[in-house]
Amino acid sequence: MTTLTSYLDTNKNTEITPALKDVITTITEVGKTISQLLRKGALADILGEAGQENVQGETQKKLDVLANDLLLDALTHNQHCAGVASEELDDATPANTEGSLLVLFDPLDGSSNIDINMAVGTIFSILPYQRQGHLSTNSDFLQAGNQQLAAGYLLYGTSTVFALTVAEGVAMFSLDPDTGDYILIENDVRIDADTSEYAINSSNYRYWLAPMQQYIDELIAGKTGVRGRDFNTRWVAAMVGDVHRILCRGGLFTYPFDTKDPNKPGKLRLMYEANPTSLLIERAGGAATDATARILDISPTDIHQRVPVVLGSKNEVDYIKKLHLQHADND
Ligand code: AHG
Ligand code: MN
Ligand code: MN
Repeated sequence: MTTLTSYLDTNKNTEITPALKDVITTITEVGKTISQLLRKGALADILGEAGQENVQGETQKKLDVLANDLLLDALTHNQHCAGVASEELDDATPANTEGSLLVLFDPLDGSSNIDINMAVGTIFSILPYQRQGHLSTNSDFLQAGNQQLAAGYLLYGTSTVFALTVAEGVAMFSLDPDTGDYILIENDVRIDADTSEYAINSSNYRYWLAPMQQYIDELIAGKTGVRGRDFNTRWVAAMVGDVHRILCRGGLFTYPFDTKDPNKPGKLRLMYEANPTSLLIERAGGAATDATARILDISPTDIHQRVPVVLGSKNEVDYIKKLHLQHADND
């Protein structure tokens, strides 16, 4: 039996520095607290709205605020953490000037699932910090996803699972509620290139670009259309849950570009939703794109910027990309 602690200690890869190990441990310790609060549910008075909005104009749930505060407090007290950026905070919070790491997180992904007792998660991304001796600012965080030193998520589902990529490969751990240990359940997660399962919020169909409409039309036509086989939909309404399903059994997830709100080119946030999940998916053999460009190569201009996301089994992602490029050529 391998615990997370022994995995981080004994993993041959020297890129797991003591600083990374310490910050990852801090995040997973907070994950235990969030997991316990969720298990108590209504009894812990965590349900419902907090009565305020975040920087993106979204109503915050009590647990969004609570999870954010727990992570913020734990990470700013970690000597290796030079700064923290969160979905729930307008600006990054500077921490220890001698720290070598920056941490970004979505403290609670899938907030709308909390009150109905469905899966939610915490997503995080760890970047290097280069300006030791100085207080970190928002601009220190604006690094492409390909610079991430580690990324992962905690999924609070029927059990609590921790998925991690650090240096190479993707490992998965399950939280043992009796001992409080994260136990390794999968050492090298791999995603098949082909899939017949896809996730999309189809209620936005009329706002999508033509190639995305064509793609979904083809999947729905199934055996009777150009794809020649049937497809099946699955939608958790928490990206972290959909990404977890894809790491477990393959699939395609997309929150594509839409014209619903001209100020939002997509719903998901690049730095703490798309980048960490894209790194996990790529390291497991899948692909992640904004429909034409690799997500991990996007140079961010804002810590809260949004991006269209297409990720999962490689052949489906490549097919969607091909449709978008063909349409661009025809324009
Ligand atoms: P968050 O709860 O952190 O704001 O993110 C929710 C996101 C994402 O997890 C999910 O895939 C998507 O919103 C679902 O949105 P809709 O149900 O509005 O399509
Ligand atoms: Mn989210
Ligand atoms: Mn969130």
